Amino acid sequence: SRRRGLVQGLISKREASMTGPMIRIAPSLLSADFAKLGSEIRALDESGADWIHIDIMDGHFVPNITIGPGVVRALRPVTNLPFDVHLMAAPVDNLIPRFAEAGADLITIHQEAGPHLHRSLQLIKSLGKKAGVSINPSTSAETLRFVMDSVDLILVMTVNPGFGGQSFIENQIEKIRTVKKMIVASERPIHLEVDGGVNRKNVAQITEAGADVIVAGTATFRGGPDCYWDNICQLRGA
Ligand code: DX5
Ligand code: ZN
Repeated sequence: SRRRGLVQGLISKREASMTGPMIRIAPSLLSADFAKLGSEIRALDESGADWIHIDIMDGHFVPNITIGPGVVRALRPVTNLPFDVHLMAAPVDNLIPRFAEAGADLITIHQEAGPHLHRSLQLIKSLGKKAGVSINPSTSAETLRFVMDSVDLILVMTVNPGFGGQSFIENQIEKIRTVKKMIVASERPIHLEVDGGVNRKNVAQITEAGADVIVAGTATFRGGPDCYWDNICQLRGA
C-alpha cells in the first residue's frame, strides 16, 4: 500500500530504526487477536509501528502465560520490524538463547528475575542481541546503577506486569526522569522505554520525562486493524 511505502521509505532497515533520536511506538502484541497474530503484525507494520513488542509471560514471575519461542519464530518472516521481546520470566537464563534463536532483536529481562542480572545481560550480548533491563513499579532506579555499561535499553514498567489494560501508575514519572538522568550521565546510547497504561492523554508527559520508546497495547489495538494507523499517529503526535 501507499502507506506502507511511505513508512518503509522512512524506516528502510530494521537496524536503522533502532538508532537515532526520534520517538518509537512499540505496539504490544498482548492486546492483539491471538487467533491471527500474523495478520495483526502485518497490519501494525502497514500502520507505522516502529518495533513489535512481544510480551513473554511464564505463569511464575507473573500470573499470566502468553507465548513461547516457537510462536515468535513462526512470526519472524512476517515483518522486518525489530522484535522487542520482553521476558517476564524467572528463572530467565534458560530462555534467553531460545528467544535469540527465534528471531528477537532486543531481549529485555527483569531486574527482579534473579540474583545475577549482570551475568544474564552478558549472556544476551554474547548472542549478538541488544540487551534490555526492566524494573517493576516498586523497584528503584538505583538498582540499575552497576549495569548502565551493559544495557542498550531500560524499560520502566508503569503497571505491575502480567496484564494489558491496567492504569498507569503516576509516581513512575519521577522514576522515568531519574532513569533519563542516569542515561545522560552514562553517555551511552541507551533507549528509555515505558510500558503499561500509556494512552494519548498521558504520552506527552511520559516523553517529556525522557522516554523515547512507547509501548502501547490497549491504545494501539482499540477499534481493530482499521484504526491502528490513526491510533499510532495519535500516540506519536500527542
Ligand atoms: C504488561 C505488559 C505490557 C502490556 C501493556 O505486563 O508488559 O506490554 O501489554 O498493555 P497496555 O498498553 O494495555 O497497558
Ligand atoms: Zn511489555
